Amino acid sequence: MKTIFSGIQPSGTLTLGNYLGAIRQFVQLQNDNNCFFCIVDQHAITVPQDPKQLKQNIKSLAALYIASGIDPDKATLFIQSEVPAHSELGWMLQSLTYMGELERMTQFKDKSEGRSAVSSALFTYPTLMAADILLYQSHLVPVGDDQTQHLELTRNVAERFNNRFGNTFVIPEISIPNVGARIMSLQEPTKKMSKSDENTKGFISMLDTPKQMEKKIKSAVTDSDGIVKFDTENKPGVSNLLSIYASCTGESIGAVEAHFRNKRYGDLKSEVAEAVINTLAPIQEKYEALISSTELDEILTKGAEKAKQAANRTLQKAKKKMGLLR
Ligand code: AQP
Repeated sequence: MKTIFSGIQPSGTLTLGNYLGAIRQFVQLQNDNNCFFCIVDQHAITVPQDPKQLKQNIKSLAALYIASGIDPDKATLFIQSEVPAHSELGWMLQSLTYMGELERMTQFKDKSEGRSAVSSALFTYPTLMAADILLYQSHLVPVGDDQTQHLELTRNVAERFNNRFGNTFVIPEISIPNVGARIMSLQEPTKKMSKSDENTKGFISMLDTPKQMEKKIKSAVTDSDGIVKFDTENKPGVSNLLSIYASCTGESIGAVEAHFRNKRYGDLKSEVAEAVINTLAPIQEKYEALISSTELDEILTKGAEKAKQAANRTLQKAKKKMGLLR
């Protein structure tokens, strides 16, 4: 049995990209593995958050995890800030991470671009992410492909620690889905779909109404040549819609291309909208029942206790190796 860790930031309402790129993999993996799924609220505060909204987003994210199929009897679901070992190990690993490595992170470059005040936490975020993963001795980290660079850094820091202080951490592997690894913005299809995008037409929120989803997909940016073909370089908008359709229906890109050959963009958009609505509607129904129940709090309290036990074991080991214990 493998140990698996992954996290999602409560920095807004989850998008279709978060679902297809991340959560859907989690649901499959929980059956045969020891899974830890985290609400990484300390990552979310690396950019300014409204406290009331953040609190609401944390709860909403917990409900969406469960509504999407995460079973708290199989997987451990918890909030990062409720397990202090994350920030403790994060600090320790900062002492082994070089400025040059962090400066190369494209997510830092993207998120800091155009901002007048960039927090130092946004810069050191990948080291906290390394701690999140290493604390659970994770073998596998299922993520969308935007996280590949952070995973590489995690592996390098873990190897550095093991070489300097003796074998302590499992070196984790990354797991990226074949289809849906990077769902793009509906308005700027060369940019990934993000929940904190200021242009709300660019993303499908998992809690959008069917009407909103349909409207957003119908106004998705495509191109003017009218040919439905998968070609991410020359036809990013159409290719993104094909990926979404393939990912929602479970068909291959080739089969989806064949299905839409000789059809118009209008037909493509209508069918994509239908596939997305069919994917998200049952999740929304479960979400509504959960969000107002007390069950959520109980699940998160139990999850934090379980996560603490596992995380503290590794933290003590790492502290001892570094000479931080009496
Ligand atoms: N567009 C996407 N396509 C596929 N996978 C995606 N993921 C995010 N966007 C897409 C995957 O979702 C998981 C959780 O991501 P996160 O919330 O921790 O951070 P993020 O990657 O920065 O996601 P967002 O939506 O873009 O958040 P904001 O707007 O706050 O920065 C990860 O596994 C990620 O790969």
